[in-house]
Amino acid sequence: MEELRQKYLEAIAGAADEAALEAVRVQALGKKGEISLKMRELGRMSPEERKVAGPALNALKNEINSAIAARRAALEDAALEERLRGEWLDVTLPGRPRPRGTVHPVSQVTEEITAIFADLGFKVAEGPQIETDWYNFDALNIPPHHPARQEFDTFYMHRAPGDDRPPHVLRTHTSPVQIRAMEKEGAPIRVIAPGRVYRSDYDQTHTPMFHQVEGLAIDRDISMANLKWVLEEFFAAFFGIDGIKTRFRASHFPFTEPSAEVDIQCSWVDGQLRIGEGEGWMEVLGSGMVHPKVLEAAGVDPSQWQGFAFGMGIDRLAMLKYGIPDLRAFFDSDLRWLRHYGFAALDVPTLHGGVSG
Ligand code: DAH
Repeated sequence: MEELRQKYLEAIAGAADEAALEAVRVQALGKKGEISLKMRELGRMSPEERKVAGPALNALKNEINSAIAARRAALEDAALEERLRGEWLDVTLPGRPRPRGTVHPVSQVTEEITAIFADLGFKVAEGPQIETDWYNFDALNIPPHHPARQEFDTFYMHRAPGDDRPPHVLRTHTSPVQIRAMEKEGAPIRVIAPGRVYRSDYDQTHTPMFHQVEGLAIDRDISMANLKWVLEEFFAAFFGIDGIKTRFRASHFPFTEPSAEVDIQCSWVDGQLRIGEGEGWMEVLGSGMVHPKVLEAAGVDPSQWQGFAFGMGIDRLAMLKYGIPDLRAFFDSDLRWLRHYGFAALDVPTLHGGVSG
């Protein structure tokens, strides 16, 4: 009995893992284990022998069982210790700094504009940047030999030799989206169309690619009065100035009749531009009542429907609102400039917002 005890206690102490321990248990206490067999022999003993051997075997069995349980707990503790040592992590260490981007002023201002017009019931329409001659010019009442064609410094796409269809163009304005939107949705319609436009021009206030936002509202009885109200609401919200004044100057665009260029009130104080105060005026957009021929070209009956359109430069608005002096820098991808004029990603524009962070 003492030999068995020694043998199994040593084996238990020496079991290096769970599996080895289980093997020892089976060997001693399994169905055919050494101690189980011994217990079966009790039946064949005389009552006197059994009286002694029975309790002794039982005690041995209990001792081995508890030795196994203790060893198992020790093995589990050791495994846990090992894991804790391996997975140790100092959560108080400072994070590694990662370069953080900023939102480009043009993206920010586009979102601000979209939010304000959305509140006025305008949704966003889109069109391609490579446009057909027809959408960019003809449908907007600018036929092939119209002088307005020459006013745009248009980029023309390549045509294969022998292909004498008019070349596609990089759209020179967002106005073709008016046609596409009306073709798609008919009237009534209220949309804005922000996006990239292209003209072959380059100086402090011109870049060959820039951004415009087009506006279009067509219904039964829309007038210039509605246009003026919408624009004044827009500028008040965009610049955060209540009661900002606008001035409408008669002008000419082939796609509107009558046409107006719109100025906003401003002044120069010590070389600094102040929007919404003083005696000066700053031109910000072109607009007018959509020409009947334009409605017709888009499949909208001009005897039933009428409305206004406008187009303005997004980059220009960004320069005015955030005091950015040179347009060319917008597209230089200079990180120092982007960090200075860019917006934090969480600077979500609000209706009256775009407040710089
Ligand atoms: N498309 C014109 C331009 O790029 C701007 C413009 C003027 C748009 C009058 C309009 C408008 O919708 O009615 O110069």
